[in-house]
Amino acid sequence: MNRSILGRIKVSSSRIFIFFGGAILLIIVLAVILGFDWGGVRQPIAFNHKIHAENDLECLDCHPYYKEHASSGKPTLETCLSCHEEPLGESKEEGKLIEYIKSGEEIDWERLYRVPEDVYFSHRMHVIIGKIECNICHGDIGESSRPPSKPLKITMNKCMKCHEEKEADNDCIACHK
Ligand code: HEC
Ligand code: HEC
Ligand code: HEC
Ligand code: HEC
Ligand code: HEC
Repeated sequence: MNRSILGRIKVSSSRIFIFFGGAILLIIVLAVILGFDWGGVRQPIAFNHKIHAENDLECLDCHPYYKEHASSGKPTLETCLSCHEEPLGESKEEGKLIEYIKSGEEIDWERLYRVPEDVYFSHRMHVIIGKIECNICHGDIGESSRPPSKPLKITMNKCMKCHEEKEADNDCIACHK
């Protein structure tokens, strides 16, 4: 009798194992199908930089501030509106843009790059005065066909390494408030 109880416990525990194993597998499969980015950034529209670069748009057309200011800036709906008031193609992503344009609601682009609040960073200083190209710090985002789910890491080491090479100020207080 003891044996048969043991046997039953064994059977039921392996059933439980199969049940949970199956449930976990199902969740993973669903996540993959639904295109879940594990911990990555999801933009409201899968914006395609490459298509716009091929149509001769420059970074400055959509990131309009880096010549004069510390920040580069993000495009507003009005920038998109000048070309997309009527659909140019048939893509689903453009369809989402048309919906935003119809409702007049700004697109809430998620910010990818950010330094801590106590750190000074200026695009004008680097891009205009230092003549450093965008891709040195941002990689190939300007030519990529999807937003990156994980931006490149901007670390203090990277900042300081370049400052050393270019003989820019590397005192703590040059970068930290
Ligand atoms: C037609 C408009 C447009 C043009 C032209 C454009 N961008 Fe963008 N850019 C966007 C939009 C919209 C986003 C937000 C969606 C995303 O992350 O892809 C963005 C995001 C970015 C970001 C991430 C910003 C952050 O931290 O959140 C970088 C870096 C960037 N663009 C660099 C570039 C560079 C470099 C160029 C030129 C080679 C360029 N972009 C040209 C529209 C544009
Ligand atoms: C100077 C004109 C111009 C501006 C400004 C512009 N676009 Fe476009 N966009 C285009 C062209 C051209 C295409 C390619 C259309 C095609 O061939 O289907 C395109 C395609 C797209 C697509 C479809 C891409 C795909 O994956 O199929 C999306 C989404 C899009 N643009 C979003 C935006 C957003 C968001 C903005 C504003 C930040 C913007 N565009 C600003 C000209 C522009
Ligand atoms: C020397 C490195 C470096 C270069 C070169 C650089 N960036 Fe950046 N970028 C950064 C850092 C660091 C941040 C985060 C800044 C912050 O949090 O204030 C950033 C943030 C951004 C952002 C989002 C925040 C904002 O400022 O609006 C955009 C858009 C952007 N960069 C676009 C560009 C474009 C376009 C170029 C080329 C014209 C460029 N960057 C060149 C380092 C760089
Ligand atoms: C690829 C090279 C490069 C990278 C990466 C870089 N810098 Fe710089 N930075 C420069 C150069 C070159 C200058 C000096 C420009 C000039 O005065 O000609 C400079 C100047 C500065 C200045 C002004 C210093 C002063 O007082 O003169 C600050 C602040 C600064 N950088 C912060 C940063 C931060 C923060 C990062 C990282 C997020 C960073 N930089 C990454 C090249 C770089
Ligand atoms: C060229 C710019 C630059 C210089 C010079 C620099 N830092 Fe930083 N530091 C950064 C950036 C950017 C970050 C945020 C990114 C990171 O954590 O790697 C940072 C982060 C830090 C942090 C983590 C806390 C925080 O602010 O998020 C400390 C602590 C720090 N720095 C101390 C120092 C000290 C001490 C020195 C002088 C020996 C120094 N830093 C010089 C750019 C710089």
